[in-house]
Amino acid sequence: MFCASKKNLYLRRKFEIMMLEKIQNLLAEVEQLKAKNAEDIEALRIKYLSKKGEITALMNDFRSVPAEQKKEIGIKINELKNKAQEVINGLRQTLQQSDGEETNIDITRTAYPVELGTRHPLTIVKNEIVDIFSRLGFSLAEGPEVEDDWHVFSSMNFAEDHPARDMQDTFFVEAHPDIILRTHTSSVQSRVMERTQPPIRIVCPGRVYRNEAISARAHCFFHQVEGLYVDTDVSFTDLMQVLLLFSREMFGEDTQIRMRPSYFPFTEPSAEMDVSCTLCKGKGCSMCKGSGWLEILGCGMVHPRVLELNGIDSTKYKGYAFGMGVERIANLKYQVKDLRLFSENDVRFLKEFEAAN
Ligand code: DAH
Repeated sequence: MFCASKKNLYLRRKFEIMMLEKIQNLLAEVEQLKAKNAEDIEALRIKYLSKKGEITALMNDFRSVPAEQKKEIGIKINELKNKAQEVINGLRQTLQQSDGEETNIDITRTAYPVELGTRHPLTIVKNEIVDIFSRLGFSLAEGPEVEDDWHVFSSMNFAEDHPARDMQDTFFVEAHPDIILRTHTSSVQSRVMERTQPPIRIVCPGRVYRNEAISARAHCFFHQVEGLYVDTDVSFTDLMQVLLLFSREMFGEDTQIRMRPSYFPFTEPSAEMDVSCTLCKGKGCSMCKGSGWLEILGCGMVHPRVLELNGIDSTKYKGYAFGMGVERIANLKYQVKDLRLFSENDVRFLKEFEAAN
């Protein structure tokens, strides 16, 4: 392409300028080289440094450079070649390093630092209640929080005009006067009895709702655990024995219980049960208001009409049932004075139960 053999000064000068320009352009190009992967780098090596590469071609042209310019151009070509080699080696090194980093990343490792959560005090207490009863042979049953009037009231023998059905107690789902938020977990008794024949031995934990103003002592939602046992030979003494065992597991070996007559539409006879005060052990203190006793649950023998309403032959079977408030038990165990603390989710309060987890 270049004809250095012509001893024409003009042409020689032109050839020299072209060579220098080419070297400069290639140098600028080489300094900007970039590569994403090993294939890119190999392509660059071939483009500039291989036998057919641009820098090698330049070196071939160099042979035709007149002797007096050989030194200047030779130095520049060498610089260019070294630069290209240096840049390509640099790209190789960077790629190897980042490859190394990638393989060292453990993507299965959890983010740091991990703050462990704790169980909610009501979950701790609910689990403890369910655990105790499961050791006594009760299995777990659950039902819906949005219920119908039948399962909450009618099937549990509530009269049509029973005050518990009142707007003041019950949350109704608008447009569906029959659909309500359950006011107690006794509805799960009905849900289980209608699809199961005895023997039935279940505990049913869950959230319940009542239309009450929120204060330290009342809330519009809280939690209960319901118990139901239906079989051929069930007595009030069996009920008392099971509840005594439960109370001693829950509150300590020396706990005493007492039954007071009461009324619930779904049990007959009905009772409310007290345990000896967990704080003063029955001597009388501010927690038990000097009586030595604390009320913890309602219970009784399942009303025969409830058995019949739910498809169970009341001439063949008997049953007992009980229901307790989880917040109430948690209050007695942990002396939480204000019910609202259970639903505010203040981390400082929740962290106090870390040790109980
Ligand atoms: N359902 C009652 C309430 O919410 C508690 C209760 C009392 C449940 C006596 C029972 C029972 O199973 O036998 O106040």
